[in-house]
Formats: sequence, C-alpha cells, structure tokens
Amino acid sequence: MKEKKRYTITAALPYANGPLHLGHLAGAYLPADIFVRYLKAKGNDVAFICGSDEHGAAITLRAKKEGCTPQEIVDKNHEIIKKSFSNFGIDFDIYHRTSSKLHHETASDFFKNLYEKGSFTQETTEQFFDQEHQQFLADRYVTGTCPKCNSAGAYGDQCEKCGSSLSPTDLINPISTLSGKTPVLKETTHWFLPMNKHEKWLKTWIETGVLDGKQQHNPSEWRKQVIGQCKSWIDNGLQPRSITRDLDWGVKVPVDGADGKVLYVWFDAPIGYISATKQWAADNGKNWEDYWKDNNTQLIHFIGKDNIVFHGIIFPIILKEHGDFILPTNVPANEFLNLEGDKISTSRNWAVWLHEYLEDFPNKQDELRYVLTSIAPETKDSEFTWKDFQARVNNELVAIFGNFVNRSLVLTHKYFEGKVPSQGTLTEYDKEVLSSITSTQHKVYELIATYRFRDAQTEAMTLARLGNKYLADTEPWKLIKTDEERVKTILNISLQLCNALSIIFEPFLPYTSKKLKGFLNSNASELNSGHQLNQPELLFEKIEDEAIEAQIEKLKKISSPAPSKGGETTFPLGRVGDGTNPKAKPMKDEITFDDFIKMDIRVATILAAEKHPDADKLLKLTVDTGIDVRTVVSGIAEHYKPEDVVGKQVSMLVNLAPRKIRGIESKGMILMAENNEGSLAFISPEKAMDNGGEVR
Ligand code: 2FM
Ligand code: ZN
Repeated sequence: MKEKKRYTITAALPYANGPLHLGHLAGAYLPADIFVRYLKAKGNDVAFICGSDEHGAAITLRAKKEGCTPQEIVDKNHEIIKKSFSNFGIDFDIYHRTSSKLHHETASDFFKNLYEKGSFTQETTEQFFDQEHQQFLADRYVTGTCPKCNSAGAYGDQCEKCGSSLSPTDLINPISTLSGKTPVLKETTHWFLPMNKHEKWLKTWIETGVLDGKQQHNPSEWRKQVIGQCKSWIDNGLQPRSITRDLDWGVKVPVDGADGKVLYVWFDAPIGYISATKQWAADNGKNWEDYWKDNNTQLIHFIGKDNIVFHGIIFPIILKEHGDFILPTNVPANEFLNLEGDKISTSRNWAVWLHEYLEDFPNKQDELRYVLTSIAPETKDSEFTWKDFQARVNNELVAIFGNFVNRSLVLTHKYFEGKVPSQGTLTEYDKEVLSSITSTQHKVYELIATYRFRDAQTEAMTLARLGNKYLADTEPWKLIKTDEERVKTILNISLQLCNALSIIFEPFLPYTSKKLKGFLNSNASELNSGHQLNQPELLFEKIEDEAIEAQIEKLKKISSPAPSKGGETTFPLGRVGDGTNPKAKPMKDEITFDDFIKMDIRVATILAAEKHPDADKLLKLTVDTGIDVRTVVSGIAEHYKPEDVVGKQVSMLVNLAPRKIRGIESKGMILMAENNEGSLAFISPEKAMDNGGEVR
C-alpha cells in the first residue's frame, strides 16, 4: 500500500464583492473539490482551504456607491458565497474570511517579518490625489480612456474592455470617481517587493522544478499555460511591485509613519490561505505548521488563469523570503469559461448566477457539476450553452447512467424481491465486465491525480455505458422465462457495477453518489448476495425544452446586448416586426428635416455617476461628449445604480440649453428608450464608437 500523504489544497479566495457564477465554479472550485474528494477517498490527510477575499478598493468603491460600509458589503456577500459553495457540494474544510482578526494578525506579522529582513524597498512616487476629497486615489478610483483600445471607462488598474493591465497614469483624461474631477499628482511613499531580485531562482524553479538544489516539483505535471505565463513574465523582466496602498480598508501597514496605508489586497489575500489553515487547525486539534512548513506536505493552488502570476510568482517570492514555508508543488489553473458565445461579464449581467440556477433547477447540483466538468476549460477556453447542458444531461446522465441504474434495480425488485442475487458460472463477457470495474477506477484515479478531470469523468461514464450495453446484450427480461440462474448472475454483475459507479462518481457527483448508495443500501465496496436493496427512484430527470428556453430568454432579457458579431439574427424581447404594440404612443406632428438637424445628438460615455444628494430619482453623471467633459442630471436613478452606468456609451442631446435641476446645472440630455412597463434603456451604439460621433 502506498504511504498516505499530507496535502494543503487551496482554491482562490473569491472577492466578497458579489455572488458566484458558473465561471467561478468551473474555473477553480469544482476541480479543487473533485481533487480533494479523490484524495480523501484514498485516505490522505487533506486540508481544503478557502475563504472570502474581503479587502481591496473595488469593495470600498461598491460600498461608497451603495451608501454603506465595506464591512456591510463583505458580510452580506460572504454569507451568499459560502452558501452557494455548500449548496454545490464544494466541501471546504474551512471557509474563512480575510476581514477576521486572525487574518489581520497573520498578514501583519508576515509583512513585519519581511520588513525586518529588508525584503522590501521603499519608494516615493507620484500618485493621483482627489483635492476635493483630500485623499489619494486607489487605482480603481480613477477612470479614463484606455490608451490601448481607446475605450472610455477604463479603470486605473485594468481596462475591462480589452483586458489590458494599466497604471492610473496610463489613462487618457483621468477622472476621479469620487468627485468626477481631474485628479492631481502628489507624492506618496509605499513599500515595494523587488521581484527583479528573485528572477534567477524563480526561473530555475518554474522551468526545472529545482529549488535550493532539490527537486521540489515535476514541471511536466504543470499545465503548459501556467509555465508559459510565468516564464513570459520572468523573461520580460520582473519589476518591483508596490505592496501597500493609500486606503482605509484592509490590513494596516504595521510600520511607524504608515498611517492611512494598508497592505495591497493581493499581498494579504494569499496569506489568507495560511490564516484560514490556522483557524481550521485550532478548531480541529491540528498543527497548522504541518500543512505549511513540512517538506512532506504538498501545497496545491487551484485558480483561474487571471491569478497565475500571483500564485506562480508573487506568493512564492513572499513565502520563500519568509523562510520555513513550503512552495506549491502545482498550480493547476484553468482557462476561462464563456457563456453562449460571449465572455462572462458581471457588469453586463451576462452570467448564470449559482444561487439563481438552484432556484430554477432545485436539487440539480450534480447536473451542473457534470456538465461543467465535461466542458472544463483545462487547456483552452471553453463554452457553456444551455442547449449543450440539456443534451449532456438528457443523453448521458438520464439515458445512460440513470437508465442503467434504474433497470438494474427495478429488475432485481421485480424478480428477486430486491435482494442481490448470487453469481453463478461466469462467461468471458461477465468476467470482462467485472474486471472493467477495477481498471476503470484505476484510470479515473490516475487521471484525477494528474489534474485531467474532464477525461477522468469521461472515463467514469464509460463504465455506466458498459453497464447499459451489458444489459441490452444479455436481455435478462427475456431470459427470466427460461433461465433464472443466468438472470441472477447478470443482475448480480449489474448491481456490482451500480455500486462501483456510486464510488467512482463520488468526486464528480457527490449528491448522486449518496442517492445511489441509498438505493443500494450500502457503503461497502462490493455487494454480498442476499443483501437487501431499497426501493429506487429515478437518479436523474430529463430537462425539458421549456426550462432551457426560459434560461436563454432570461439571459437575453436581463443582459445588456453583447457586441454584435454578425451571423445569426436574434430579436430582442417579445413582439417583433409586426408593428402592433397596442401601448405605443401615437406619432407626434410631422417635422421638417431642418427641424431635425437642429438637434445635435452625439455618442458620449458616462465617466462617473453618483446619486443626486437631494433627489431620489436623479443621478448626477459626468459625461465625456468628445467635445468636453460635463455634468448631466438624469432621471434614471430608479432604473440604474450609479456603478451600473459608469463606462456606458450613450446617445446624448448636447445642444440642449443648460438648466438647473434640483440645484445642479445639467448640460444636455441622455436619450433613453421606454418600454410598455415604464422601464428605461440607454440608446447605445451597437459597437464601441468615438465619443463625439454624430448620431443622425
Ligand atoms: O481573482 C480573485 O477573485 C481574487 N480574489 C483571488 C484571490 S486568490 C488568493 F490569493 F487569495
Ligand atoms: Zn482597453
């Protein structure tokens, strides 16, 4: 027997900034859970660690916009996220949080340790400062035009349109999201991690797996894209990276003279894995250091591809600088999951939210787990579509796995009062089927152990397929009239297969496995003859067309339209093309072309938005019209939250005479469409356009 090993398995701490969607599950949490269930089934000592990432400027920004405290934002989201994980059977040993006292102490001590060793440099640089609010602006608090793709509404750390990483000073026409004004540059001092000093050992470690002269991991087991991304960062030359921020939310920098400064969220978040392990160990009579400081422990980080550099380069530097800590033996990062032909986008609401899925498909966690593993983006981006979801559930789970289990159990109840019949003489076919149980289990486990979850699940399904074929070939329902002994053998073998499926599928489909073990009334690795089975129910139900159509419709309704790519014609909501909306208002009096051209309508981009201080229905918008940046007061506050409109391109009547609206001068009017129920929508160009472009 192989020696049992110790593992620390982490899954990226999700931001407590909003709920989870399909992409989260497929990206990191489902593969991590499958891996951990497999490790535990093999009897290994495993700590499966996760928690909420509760710091960062994005959270403070959201709190400002929602008029509450950052703590309120993270408290709410922490609970929602935690519940989604538990509902989908993502079985962490602990789901901790970075706003906890233990985490603050742990991260602060970590910083101090490195600070005292001289691992950081200190630099004074110029950063944007909002004069009206008298504060330095975190990267996210500055928006402007992206220098790479020219789209408006890019953040100071990233352009969400083209995905480029940015610095606030890269932005064209930077605007403070706090005041809507142009910020000024002012000096501030921060601590930096001189990543450049670590290039040499990192390169050797990533490329060869050798660390301090010892083989620490086997790079051939790492995914190509992980090694590729890390190498390209190193080959391009690592730069010192600032690890503190001017912000009042986060872990305070534990150094004299650092008032108003906190650790950068990406410095404290991975340390969250350690603080979570400490909490888990304290709660369970374990020693946390065994899981982080013992060379016999394997540390494995499950993440999405946008987190590779942090787990493959930055966190390893921090761990190594501290000393005593082990480095990851693997960082199995997934690529992205797209949805119905488009990138998942939380701001456009182009997403399937996990809590909503369970409202629409109650108790169908395993159906989603199955499909997401079947299409797991392990080596390249992949795509979820509702039609494919339906096909995989109906044609594979229902028609193969469920059908086989149901027939085996129903026939045993019908012919043998639900008792496992005994095996008689075995044919070659019987022996082959029986031996495929062990060989399948072996293959599945080997594939899981090498992070090929998609192939592993496909392999598990071949066993169900084999069972189905075995029953179809041997036709016990016909034989029962002539050869009851033979039927006993066939059903015994079929039931052994059902039992094996309940074990082999456990990492992938834990709810189904439990249900099946319940039907079989057994937790054993084999079923003895004479063993009494329980009455079965259906293992899976067919997903009807209406349910799928409702999901597709829901996506289209709640999302802003994705940029058009040509091809298939899809019409928006409801009635199309017949000109018979009974609630449409009658047409106004005819005007001349000269009347029309008096109106100067332009493409404009909303740069910043805030609630009007004195009116619930109004938003105060800062808009880039291409001609100037100006303030417009718009009556859309009941339809849009300020953060939902920032970055939107809209049509605007720019030559409307300025008017004061509740004390604020408004210059121009944003055009809105209204539907029968009175809800509003922006008139946005169908593709990104230059601000100031005429609408004619
Ligand atoms: O990308 C994210 O969602 C980050 N919150 C992941 C953090 S992982 C870790 F370092 F904590
Ligand atoms: Zn861009």
